[in-house]
Amino acid sequence: MKNLKVFEDYSAPEVSVIESEDVPKIVDILHSSFGHIDSKETIASKLLPRMLNGISIKLTVNGEIVGCHILATKSVNAFISDIKSNNLKDFKSGNTQLYLKEEMSDRGLQGIALSIMPEWRSYGYGNLLKNWYSGDPRFDYIWGVQDKNLGNIEDWKKTREIFAECPTHFATIRKFVKSEPIYK
Ligand SMILES: CC(C)(COP(=O)(O)OP(=O)(O)OC[C@H]1O[C@@H](n2cnc3c(N)ncnc32)[C@H](O)[C@@H]1OP(=O)(O)O)[C@@H](O)C(=O)NCCC(=O)NCCS
Repeated sequence: MKNLKVFEDYSAPEVSVIESEDVPKIVDILHSSFGHIDSKETIASKLLPRMLNGISIKLTVNGEIVGCHILATKSVNAFISDIKSNNLKDFKSGNTQLYLKEEMSDRGLQGIALSIMPEWRSYGYGNLLKNWYSGDPRFDYIWGVQDKNLGNIEDWKKTREIFAECPTHFATIRKFVKSEPIYK
C-alpha cells in the first residue's frame, strides 16, 4: 500500500450506498476498469438495477466518487441450484467441480464488480470496499465469480477460497467471522 495521500483539505474517505444521481459517475468508474470488455452503454444496461439495489456501495474521497462495489443479495445455495438447473452461461452441471464442504446459509452477499479509479489505486480503498459488509449481521459470507482470463485469482485467494470451478471461471467465498471488527 502506498503512503496515505496528503491533502491540504483532506477528509476521510466515505462509503455509502449508490443513489440514482451517482449512476453516470459509477458507469465511468466501471468503464475505467472494464472498458476493454464492455462499452459504457452495456455496463449501464447490465448493471443499472444492481447499482440501485440499496446494497451496492460507492467510495467518496474529498467529495469525489472514486470507487464502487456492485453487489447483490444472493446465496451460494441459489448459485449452486442455478448450476444444477443449467441456468447459467458458464457454470453447467456437466462442467463444474464443487468443493464446498459445509452447508452454507442463505444469508449470502454476491460481489459482482469492484472498481477503483486507476489514479486512486493502492491506497487500501479496494480492501475497504471488499471488507465493508464483513460485520453486517444480514450476511454470513461474500462470494463471487472470477473469469480465469482476468488472471487475478491469486489476489482473491488472499481473502477467499475457491468453492466451484468450471473451464472458464472460478467461484470464491469468504466467510465472515462475526467477531471481526466492524469497519463502519
Ligand atoms: C482490484 C482493485 C479494486 C484494487 O483496488 P486498490 O484500491 O488498488 O486495492 P488496495 O489498495 O486495497 O490493495 C490492493 C489489494 O487488492 C488486491 N488486488 C489487486 N488487483 C486485484 C484484482 N484485479 N482483483 C482482486 N484483487 C486485486 C491486491 O492483492 C491487494 O491485496 P492486499 O493489500 O491484501 O495485498 C483495483 O485494482 C481495480 O479497480 N482494478 C480493476 C478492476 C478489477 O480488476 N476488479 C476486480 C475484479 S471485479
